Amino acid sequence: MFNGKALAGKVAIVTGAGQGIGAGIARAYAAQAAKVAVVDWNLETAEQVAQAIGAAGGEAAAFKCDVADRAQVDAMVAATVARFGPVDVLANNAGITRTAMLHKMTAHQWQQVLDVHLSGSFNCLQAVVGGMMERQRGWIINTISTAGILGTIGQINYGSAKAGLIGFTKSAARELARYNIVVNCVAPGAATPMTETIRTDPRFKETYLARVPLGRWAEPEEITPVWVFLASEGASYITGQLIGVDGGMSIH
Ligand SMILES: NC(=O)c1ccc[n+]([C@@H]2O[C@H](COP(=O)([O-])OP(=O)(O)OC[C@H]3O[C@@H](n4cnc5c(N)ncnc54)[C@H](O)[C@@H]3O)[C@@H](O)[C@H]2O)c1
Repeated sequence: MFNGKALAGKVAIVTGAGQGIGAGIARAYAAQAAKVAVVDWNLETAEQVAQAIGAAGGEAAAFKCDVADRAQVDAMVAATVARFGPVDVLANNAGITRTAMLHKMTAHQWQQVLDVHLSGSFNCLQAVVGGMMERQRGWIINTISTAGILGTIGQINYGSAKAGLIGFTKSAARELARYNIVVNCVAPGAATPMTETIRTDPRFKETYLARVPLGRWAEPEEITPVWVFLASEGASYITGQLIGVDGGMSIH
């Protein structure tokens, strides 16, 4: 699909890259010759991903960081720059769910999800953007969800955070366009352990699948190519856009 050099010469930070979609993005970036910071608050899994990338001939390093903590984010970005050089690509992907019906959701559950998705993405954006503005180049990709487009039941915290990230993407895209920095967001379909209940529990499975025009779950390798494209020169005239890799679920 890509020639193995689509991201040559680029340094990329991928958050939440210790497993799931983030690990897939990190592997895909390294396979296209980017130098990749594999960032996760779970250092063990991040190291496993970085080692696997190295074993496959790519270049990656693991960094432990809670994206909701600004001091940790600043330290992680400084360590990435020291190791690989200035950051060209930021994939804001780290995420959690704290599921509860809205009348039972605790203030802590509400806040935790907003802190990781929304504040975490802001922290990482702000920590890398100064260097991108100076160098007049940058590619930022935020991971959202159909939950932020269509709404969802039992996850008002998550739906609100992901909807917030759409506004975040569009605002950052407008503000950063003058610096030649493009900012887009991707809504993946259900593919990884985070959505295992939806995909396997008979109470949800058929109802959910009925809402997916392509009528099937995504294969993991169908999810990440768009992150490669949006970090490549091919995306230099695309900004402020939302792309669903969701089997058509968010068509509206
Ligand atoms: N899985 C899906 O089908 C799906 C669908 C729509 C959107 N998403 C979004 O895609 C992204 C990745 O989801 P996934 O399914 O791969 O999830 P996952 O749970 O498999 O992986 C998330 C990773 O993020 C890390 N993480 C969580 N909080 C963190 C923090 N504060 N700081 C640093 N790392 C942190 C976790 O340790 C984990 O490695 C998330 O933003 C999620 O909301 C996923």
